[in-house]
Amino acid sequence: MKTVLILGATGNLGGLAASVLNERYPEVGLRLTSSRESGCDSLRELYPNAEVLGADWYDPSSLVEAMRGVDSVFIVVPDFTTDESIVTPNIISAVKTVGGISQVVRLIAIPPGLTAAQLSPEFLATRCGANLSVIAKPLLDASGLPMTYINVPCWIMFNLPWFLAPEIKARRRLAMPRLSDSSRLWISEADVAEVAAKILAEDPSKHVGEEYVLTGTERIDFVQITKLLGEVIGEEVVFAADDHPLRDAMGDKFDALMTYFRHETRDYGGVPVTNTVARLLGRPQVTLRQYLTTNRDLFI
Ligand SMILES: NC(=O)c1ccc[n+]([C@@H]2O[C@H](COP(=O)([O-])OP(=O)(O)OC[C@H]3O[C@@H](n4cnc5c(N)ncnc54)[C@H](OP(=O)(O)O)[C@@H]3O)[C@@H](O)[C@H]2O)c1
Repeated sequence: MKTVLILGATGNLGGLAASVLNERYPEVGLRLTSSRESGCDSLRELYPNAEVLGADWYDPSSLVEAMRGVDSVFIVVPDFTTDESIVTPNIISAVKTVGGISQVVRLIAIPPGLTAAQLSPEFLATRCGANLSVIAKPLLDASGLPMTYINVPCWIMFNLPWFLAPEIKARRRLAMPRLSDSSRLWISEADVAEVAAKILAEDPSKHVGEEYVLTGTERIDFVQITKLLGEVIGEEVVFAADDHPLRDAMGDKFDALMTYFRHETRDYGGVPVTNTVARLLGRPQVTLRQYLTTNRDLFI
């Protein structure tokens, strides 16, 4: 039986990928990790058939233990906190120490062609999105490991219920700082997770060496999302250039996020639309209207 290790299986994308693998690919064995005891407990409850271990990517020996005997590894690191200059070398070293791993799948977010040299120290210090990936990818490329990249240089739809829903529910306002507005590509978290699960479940030889760039199907700005939300909810929603709700939602991460937006609204603007999700999954990808309709209850 093939065994897939998900490092960070309590996370949004790692958790969804675990769930898809568990439900649709019963032939795949799952090993799931969290760096927290409480995270391991909830993984054991959710996935009684999986092996669950504690692993912290700042603790090299825990990574080696987590990787022993697995065939494929999936890595998704969190924004704001990850020090890629430590985490990625530790992961590379653990894969090499263990040996025999046939595929390392890493989620990244890099507008095609963007490199660390093009990003100011101020942007890199946000440790968000491309500012993580432009550090990690060159290290992974140089490592000689059997890599597959899932590159998502756009916004994931879960951002909407995460930091916009409370204000939409309470005051029917899509409230965001003016400088964060941009015409963006949007992709559903379910599509990203399905792609990851498929890549992890299939024969690695089909995917090693590939970089799959996943995007939304069309560019949509906040005014258009506001209109869409109004249609889905059946009540008027207005756009408000107001940073207070985001400040409340993000707490001490707010300033870093505002700095990140200055680079993101600039550097993600030229990302071309791809059909990679439809090509890999053999079905059209989820549109923002479909996502909002399915998740309408989160906004009313
Ligand atoms: N939001 C967007 O629109 C968007 C768009 C494109 C790309 N992305 C990228 O998506 C990624 C975030 O994905 P996500 O939301 O799924 O992340 P997440 O929910 O924050 O999950 C991160 C995972 O990392 C684990 N983790 C944290 N510290 C750890 C440590 N020291 N050792 C081992 N594991 C640790 C966490 O598990 P424990 O805490 O249980 O250990 C958690 O499972 C970022 O890289 C971001 O750039 C986001």
